[in-house]
This record gives sequence, structure tokens and C-alpha cells, in this order.
Amino acid sequence: MLNNRPRHILSSDQFDREFLDYLYQLVNLIRRYDKSKEGLLYLKSLLPHVRAMLYFTQPSTRTFMSFHSACNILGVSTSEIRDSATSSEKKGESIEDSLRTFSSYVDLIVMRSTEAGLCERIAALLDNTPRPVPIINAGSGPDEHPTQALLDIYTLRRSFHGNQIDGKRICMVGDLKRGRTVRSLSKLLANYRDVAITFASPEAFRIEQDLRDCLTRRGVAFTETEDFEGAIRDADAIYMTRIQDEWDTGRESAAVDHSGFCLHLEHMRRIKPDCVIMHPLPRRDEIDPLIDSDPRAKYWRQERNGMWVRVALIMILMGVDHQVMLPDKSVATS
Ligand code: CP
Repeated sequence: MLNNRPRHILSSDQFDREFLDYLYQLVNLIRRYDKSKEGLLYLKSLLPHVRAMLYFTQPSTRTFMSFHSACNILGVSTSEIRDSATSSEKKGESIEDSLRTFSSYVDLIVMRSTEAGLCERIAALLDNTPRPVPIINAGSGPDEHPTQALLDIYTLRRSFHGNQIDGKRICMVGDLKRGRTVRSLSKLLANYRDVAITFASPEAFRIEQDLRDCLTRRGVAFTETEDFEGAIRDADAIYMTRIQDEWDTGRESAAVDHSGFCLHLEHMRRIKPDCVIMHPLPRRDEIDPLIDSDPRAKYWRQERNGMWVRVALIMILMGVDHQVMLPDKSVATS
């Protein structure tokens, strides 16, 4: 069983190797319940008394839908805000008061917003109230997207021979300056031995200094390059990302030529035969859709993996993970 049980899911910094190994063991067990009607009904019986608020005031397709589906799988009922203009924030209520209000009605808050650090602030606030409900960070500004990173690691594990991430070379490509998935995933990779990261991007979109400092402090080998073709050639996994122009203050992204950082069909002959290609999605032009049918393209599986990882995270936060981890539950999965 898990020794350090998280109260909230706020940042990749929270997690160590013990937690990651436990989480992925749990996810694999949960997925066995998906194979039968009895198994799915068992999962649905675990949390029918729990209510969750999905507070997504920044656009989302898959994170929102996968959390919504994860709640559904566990029998959790959901309510949602997808635009702060439809809440009393529009009347001048502070975000703190709004979230505290939601906590009066629900047992779990999943939140995505444009503001870095907001989830930590709300979690600290609620921890000092009579209803300290768990907070899950589903994307906080350009800062962190920890549940995406947790599903990315799960996808890497499932894609590599022997579930082995130790010793692998991961190449991350695109807007590394403002891409929160890259930040969260890089920090999680620090939990694995002898991982090497190559960051390939136009000069304008290089990683931020705090991530460099974090990786150096944690002993992760990394290089930064503008040589996309050289970077992908010997990578065990390529993690593509889009240009995050929603953070532009003017039209600075349009001034940067990122065409040399897109994966085309002809690249597939030059990368490793077992290279894992991932993308947090949504994509634009950085991966040719013709690559989708190549067995090395894992981004559609990655997207579905997210739902199962989120089921497991909700189970851990709500303290029902042992109901799947116990050996006598194997009957439900047969
Ligand atoms: N990967 C991801 O966060 O996708 P959405 O923005 O669609 O949720």
C-alpha cells in the first residue's frame, strides 16, 4: 500500500518513484475491470456517494472529457463550470470565494485555469476550512499539467520493452518555453535512472531557466538544440508539442519559423524502428496525420491512457484504491 498518500494533485514535484510504481500497478489492475460488465459495475459501485466539480475556465477537450469519463466510471456525479462568465465571478466574486463556495457542495474539485499557482493557492485555502476537499490540477497556466505527465509516463512505460524507462533518451520538441506538459513531464522523468532528455526547439521557444535548474539539481542529463533531425535520430521516444500561441502578448509566435520542428512521413525512415512517438494533443501541423497509422505513433493510446490514470488518481484521493489492490478482488476481473 501507498506510504505517502497525496491530499491533492498539484505538481509533478510531489511524486516519487514509489508513488509512480504504485499508481501504474493500480492503473493496470483497474483496466482489467474494463474487460467485463461485472468489472465495470464494480468500479461504478465504488464512489456513487461522491460529487465532483469540474472547473475548467480554460479550453479543454481531452482533459475535461477524460476526467468526466473517469468520474463516470467510478460512479462519481459531476457538475461543471467551463466559463467564469457564467459564475458569480462575473459579479466580482473573487476566485477564492468562488472555489470555496464549490467546496460547500462537492467532495473533489478538478480545475484548469490560465493562472499559474492557482491550484496550490486554492488547496492551501481550503485546507484551512472545515471542508478541505482535494484539488486536482488539470492544467495551470504555462506552469504545470501533472496529470498529463502522469499519463505520459504511463504511456512510455507501456510502450517500452519491459516497461523500462530507465536509461532511455527522450526528445521533446516544439514550444518548450510555454508548454506546461513538457515542464511537468521533464520533472517526472527525474524519478528514473539515467534518462537523457534532448530539448529541440527554435531559439525563441527554449525551456525556461527554472526547469534547467531543476533538472541540474536532480542530476538529469539534458541538452538543448535547434537540430531537430539530429535530435530525433537516436531518440527512444519523441514527444511533439504545438506552438502555444495563446500565451502571446502580441504576434510573437507568428514571427518564429517552426516548420523545421515538424514530424513528416520521410522522418519515419530515419528514426529508430521502435521509437515511441507521443503528443499531448491537440496538434496542428507538427505531426503529419499520415503518421497516425504507423505503429510507433502512440498519441491516440496516450489520450485513452489518460482516462485510466485519472480513474486511479481519483481512487487514491478518495481512499478506495485498496478495493482494487486487494487480491480477493481478482474475481471481478475474470
Ligand atoms: N492534453 C490536453 O491537455 O488536452 P486538452 O487541452 O484538450 O485538455
